[in-house]
Amino acid sequence: MDGSTQHASRTIEELEADGAISDFSAAYSAGLPGAGAVNFFSHVAHGTTPYADRGLRDFFLYRDLGVAKATGGRILCHLVKANMAPEHGTGWHRHQLGFHIVYMVSGWAKFMYSDVSVHVGTGDCVYMPPGISHYLYDYSEDMEFLEIESPVESLTEDVSPCCDIPQPTPWPGQK
Ligand SMILES: [Fe+2]
Repeated sequence: MDGSTQHASRTIEELEADGAISDFSAAYSAGLPGAGAVNFFSHVAHGTTPYADRGLRDFFLYRDLGVAKATGGRILCHLVKANMAPEHGTGWHRHQLGFHIVYMVSGWAKFMYSDVSVHVGTGDCVYMPPGISHYLYDYSEDMEFLEIESPVESLTEDVSPCCDIPQPTPWPGQK
């Protein structure tokens, strides 16, 4: 070292591809829940990845935020927004997940969690215990939520109804 200031010289793409991050991250997180061998840096900038209809529901659009790839499939982090007015909702189902939260970025959604109806408004955060029976049955036109779950690949299965479902709210202009 000659004592001069060291300036950043790499691109974000080079940092993201750096296998050394995965190595030291594995060592630094050893023994902690969720520790794994794959830990890449990831920066998904606003507007660089599109919303796409390649998620679980065809009435929603999904924007991947790069975390699944960066963590080697340990953690999914994506944005989910309304694409069509609610008709039949998700149906009763449950997920085989170790961790699952929803944070409502805009608008609102109504879920049944078991036999309890929950209005999830902008700024609300819901933690769903693994295996809980639920049904997303209503949502606003501007609904968008951040969903984080682990692992990325998981089983979703239909379950028996816990109770009747209220009618969804028509969107403005909807017949
Ligand atoms: Fe679900």
